[in-house]
Amino acid sequence: MPLKQHLILVGPMGAGKSTIGRLLSETLHSVFSDLDKEIEHRCGATIPWIFDIEGEDGFRDRESHVLNLLLSEAPVVLATGGGCVLRSDNRAALSSHGRVVYLKASVEQQLVRTAKDKNRPLLQTDNPEATLIKMAEVRNPLYDSVADVTIDTNLKSPKQVVSEIIDELELSS
Ligand code: S3P
Repeated sequence: MPLKQHLILVGPMGAGKSTIGRLLSETLHSVFSDLDKEIEHRCGATIPWIFDIEGEDGFRDRESHVLNLLLSEAPVVLATGGGCVLRSDNRAALSSHGRVVYLKASVEQQLVRTAKDKNRPLLQTDNPEATLIKMAEVRNPLYDSVADVTIDTNLKSPKQVVSEIIDELELSS
């Protein structure tokens, strides 16, 4: 079923945006895009490499550019990266191009889901828990500000979360 507008997943690292986005798109028989994967594909480089060479600012520029490209194309289920909401221009673009679902996760759940992951440069710190807590303080209000719907993912299976999204957005036919 072609979507009428983008369904955009936002939320912190380890909230399950990619897994849930993919399952949501399969359930709705629609197309799935993952912003981080699209950035990597278009740059021919991995996220850690981009952070290494260009720093976070360089990555954010690329992220905004690819986000705007994807939002200007046909509607998809779009999983964004956790920091996508940091720029106000991105937040405005998200809000005006689709329905935004905020997938909430506790720091405990994030730690479990991101343990041993080397592909998230911002978590390569001595104390990932403290890093996630600081990020949540800054970012949670930003996720709230763009969200049409907020879903708590803690201790829920991807299937459960997908069915909640479908109910909340009244997507079932
Ligand atoms: C980031 C989250 C990552 C990725 C990059 C930066 C962030 O995406 O975009 O490492 O700033 O929170 P996920 O949320 O998919 O891990």
